[in-house]
Amino acid sequence: MTSTRNKTIFVEKNDAKHFPIFRLPAITEKQNNDFFNKIYFGDSIVEIKKLPTDSVDLIVTDPPYTIRRNFGSGTISTNEKKFADWCERWISDCARILKQNGSIYICINWEASSIIESILKKHFIIQNRITWKRDKGRGAKKNWKNNLEDIWFATKSDDYTFNLNSVKIKKTVIAPYVDKSGKPKDWIEKNGEKFRYTHPSNIWTDLVVPFWSMPENTEHPTQKPEKLIERIILASSNENDLVFDPFMGSGTTAVVAKKLKRNYLGFEIEKKFYILAQKRLSLTK
Ligand SMILES: C[S@@+](CC[C@H](N)C(=O)[O-])C[C@H]1O[C@@H](n2cnc3c(N)ncnc32)[C@H](O)[C@@H]1O
Repeated sequence: MTSTRNKTIFVEKNDAKHFPIFRLPAITEKQNNDFFNKIYFGDSIVEIKKLPTDSVDLIVTDPPYTIRRNFGSGTISTNEKKFADWCERWISDCARILKQNGSIYICINWEASSIIESILKKHFIIQNRITWKRDKGRGAKKNWKNNLEDIWFATKSDDYTFNLNSVKIKKTVIAPYVDKSGKPKDWIEKNGEKFRYTHPSNIWTDLVVPFWSMPENTEHPTQKPEKLIERIILASSNENDLVFDPFMGSGTTAVVAKKLKRNYLGFEIEKKFYILAQKRLSLTK
């Protein structure tokens, strides 16, 4: 039984009736962007081929990456070679559809990280590897608890969008430095607080996985925090840009893109998660 404080979004009995199955139509060259702002039901490997070349500003994704687990009808394989071949198929298509000044971010666990790195290298310029220190993770009896996730950041060229000021981090100033006239140097004093906005690093320790009491939480088993996707979208896209996620899951990328006034588009292969994502999007203002 769920507690009244539990805000988790679930798929309920009648939801399938309320949320129709959208399938991405064939896109003609002359078509305007009326296929934007939808999550489509289907297999990314097939559907991504319909998207025009150089049409997407930002790709943010979190593929079904556990080599040891199976995601229902998801096309993930338990074999490393098969997994690499499968990733090559969608990553090469991501390279085709991404604009010249666009960026791609791929979230991945340590086991599959080197596979993603080697494929990304073939198609993009790798700009960074971000480490997200999650505060949750299963304990292990004979191993170290897995508390990290890699987020690979790559671009098509060296001329790419990066809105540094939107993602600077507020930091308390411990030793406030003043100039000759006694004015603060590179810091701000407000309501008795001394702080500065610093450049964000590639180690992210301030983002928690969604908990059951948070309104963003859904029943999807590997949901990403909105704040994490928000940081990526703010840095690497502008309003009205198109953000694409081939593996939408509970729809986090679409929800955050919508909140930040970006266009979005993506796919989900599991009907239950597809409906979950549609429901979550319908609750997003
Ligand atoms: C790691 S989860 C993504 C979670 C998502 N970032 C979120 O915040 O909810 C990966 C998702 O990809 C879906 N998936 C697996 N293979 C797929 C495919 N070939 N095409 C589209 N979706 C697929 C799975 O059903 C799963 O929901």
